[in-house]
Amino acid sequence: MEKVYQLNQNQRSITLSEAIDNKEFPFHRDKAVSAKTPSIHFVNGFQIPIIGLGTYDMPTNQSVMDNIINVAIDIGYRHIDTAYIYQNEEMIGKTLRDIFANNKTKREDLFITSKVWSTYHKRSAVAEALKLSLNNLGLDYLDLALIHWPIAVRSGTGYLWPLDENNQTLDDDISVVETWKGMEDAYRLGLAKSIGVSNFNSEQLSRVLKHTFIKPVVNQFEIHPYLSQEKLVEFCHNNSIQVIAYCPIGKAHKGLLNEPILTTIASNNNKTVPQVMLRWLIQRDIIIIPKTSKTYRLSENFNIFDFQLTDEEMTEIFKLNKNMRFINPIEAINNKEYPFNREF
Ligand SMILES: NC(=O)c1ccc[n+]([C@@H]2O[C@H](COP(=O)([O-])OP(=O)(O)OC[C@H]3O[C@@H](n4cnc5c(N)ncnc54)[C@H](OP(=O)(O)O)[C@@H]3O)[C@@H](O)[C@H]2O)c1
Repeated sequence: MEKVYQLNQNQRSITLSEAIDNKEFPFHRDKAVSAKTPSIHFVNGFQIPIIGLGTYDMPTNQSVMDNIINVAIDIGYRHIDTAYIYQNEEMIGKTLRDIFANNKTKREDLFITSKVWSTYHKRSAVAEALKLSLNNLGLDYLDLALIHWPIAVRSGTGYLWPLDENNQTLDDDISVVETWKGMEDAYRLGLAKSIGVSNFNSEQLSRVLKHTFIKPVVNQFEIHPYLSQEKLVEFCHNNSIQVIAYCPIGKAHKGLLNEPILTTIASNNNKTVPQVMLRWLIQRDIIIIPKTSKTYRLSENFNIFDFQLTDEEMTEIFKLNKNMRFINPIEAINNKEYPFNREF
């Protein structure tokens, strides 16, 4: 029987052959990303490997980047998370070009995410931002393009995060709905196979779902045991929006790494605390993108598919929640789309 796909928030089911004839669906391949990595399906039929390599704050050295990505691929990583603002897309692109030239991995076997920065929120600027990322990466499509933040800041100042004399962001009055329409345009141009958002709260997601045609396949936001995000995860999953956790090991915060309940669960399972934190997320059907610049930690973070946390262990970890954020752009607290004024 032919597999059923869904194209938009109206959840109309279509088959693959209908989909590839549809101008909203510019890619003609139902690709399976990796044989080695478990994947999660998006509502549009594409798959995302459940673990990816985060790249924020990687060393700014080409040979280090080459080494990390090559070792990651050897281990089984097939998913890389970057962003225009990380200013490492060119370096990652150079690594990828060499990998493709050496036939180590094919482009279609990798899943690459990048993000539209807040100075590119006008509808007409979104495709331009993604073309810059694609040019940096040396790719002709992204697997996933995200709106990095719901917050629009002023463009043309020469800064990516322009601040006034009171250290508040210089804002641009652009709604998330306008920016999402730009994402839909970019999708129709074939710049990305799937489009989604990051750091959106439930109200912003509801507005996008109500006023636009193509549904975001994913919301990427901060989740770890000190910020369990149960309500936002439930809201996303109930709306067929997958969830990607950033800071999935809580930035290796010392308090978390030494939390007695986590160290006990880790030792009971012959695992490390970071492995327990990552396992807790994937058992909630959440995609994870831990970052490390240490090759020995790449395998530690990947080696989480051979054990299972019990319901009691899952519950104990949920009890650690203290709604504590490591990432909070408080300079933008007065921006009308600042996302963290609501409970979720
Ligand atoms: N959408 C957004 O707004 C947003 C925001 C933040 C992050 N992100 C994405 O999410 C990714 C992950 O988040 P993150 O980098 O902020 O935090 P994270 O992955 O939770 O933590 C990274 C930190 O943990 C350390 N680490 C990694 N593995 C470890 C291990 N096994 N044992 C001990 N320490 C370990 C790393 O140090 P070493 O490098 O020294 O190993 C680094 O200091 C980012 O890289 C980025 O791609 C997205």
